[in-house]
Amino acid sequence: MKAWFNESRFGMFIHWGAYSVAGRGEWIMNRERIGKEEYTQKYVDNWHAEKYEPAGWAALAKESGMGYMVLTTRHHDGFALWDSKVNAWNAARLGPKRDLVAQYVDAVRKAGLKVGLYYSPAAWSHPDYPGAFFRDWPGEKDWRDEASRQRFIEYYRSEIRELMTGYGRIDYLWFDGCIPENIDGDETLKMVKELQPDILVNTRLGKPFDNKCSEQTIHPAAAGQDWEACMTLNGNWGYHAGDMRWKSPADVIDMLLTCAQSAGNLLLNIGPEADGTVPENSVRILREAGNWIRRHRECIANSERHPFSWNCTARPITAKGNNVYLHFINDPCGSFCWAEVKNKVLSASLLKDGAPVEFRQEDNRLFLENIPSPMPDSPASTVVLKLDGKPETLTRQTTFWIPE
Ligand code: GLC
Repeated sequence: MKAWFNESRFGMFIHWGAYSVAGRGEWIMNRERIGKEEYTQKYVDNWHAEKYEPAGWAALAKESGMGYMVLTTRHHDGFALWDSKVNAWNAARLGPKRDLVAQYVDAVRKAGLKVGLYYSPAAWSHPDYPGAFFRDWPGEKDWRDEASRQRFIEYYRSEIRELMTGYGRIDYLWFDGCIPENIDGDETLKMVKELQPDILVNTRLGKPFDNKCSEQTIHPAAAGQDWEACMTLNGNWGYHAGDMRWKSPADVIDMLLTCAQSAGNLLLNIGPEADGTVPENSVRILREAGNWIRRHRECIANSERHPFSWNCTARPITAKGNNVYLHFINDPCGSFCWAEVKNKVLSASLLKDGAPVEFRQEDNRLFLENIPSPMPDSPASTVVLKLDGKPETLTRQTTFWIPE
């Protein structure tokens, strides 16, 4: 368990590559059956990254209240964003003609954020990969022969070695869960931990891992296990020029608090355009959400699991120590009754300005009354309850469930 991971609870995921030139997401090579040569001509050679300024990305992450960043150093297409000696199909030789990873690591570190690298073991363009156009992934039996499997393992491992040795301290290595099986992930992970003893590694290359991750859904891991949910800001990871299904700042806050209420993190994605610019909508949404998130670090950073269930008005609910934070994304219209808390409530106040909120406890019910309506903060207002001890509940914790 690494303290920094739970301190920030919020990270920036960045999907950026030659595919960003096309603006049709990050899967085009595979979905459209584009061969390596055609892909190079159409996308790699036209990728200039002319406005690439990772310091700007890092500043946006900070403004959004994030504590770490994770960049796709090599996605499934197999194109390396760094100056690789083992993979000539890379950004220092072609396209941008720069080591994009070096610039990124430097900027993120300077901004005081934790440095994360995403790496996908799949490599559609590699001759030893079982095939570029598998839908969706090749399996263990799809290797051409044992010799090509061994060569592939040696190859992807040497790429990871470069990433783990060429850029100083790396805080987080984020493997994508992309088969082919079996690529002896355990041996690779041993090497990673030897080269970077303090690194945090996610679960997708197998064991041993540090943290779990759910994708496009918020699925808490078992108690005691660090975890995060990775989510897109619209419906795509890589830049998609036609995707306008943006989440709102309130959605972002809701997702972050939903993770935090079960002691998990939100890794939120942006898909920059080929030149390096972050789409205007992403910037606007992150800034607006960030304005709230930065002022609410207290109820997000190091949040702890609590025993309470869901209700329709105060949601999500986060907790730390003897404090419980009721978040009102829905205005309670003046009053709120909570029939779950077993503790004695010592005080209730608005987190925004510390103004007291009237309350009384009767039998098993807590009543908050004369709450200003509309509440003073947007997109959510938070009431802090100080309890006489660690949060305890009157009812069993449940999740909402509908039988099929
Ligand atoms: C999905 C996508 C992949 C992306 C990943 C991020 O698996 O297929 O392209 O990198 O999500 O978690």
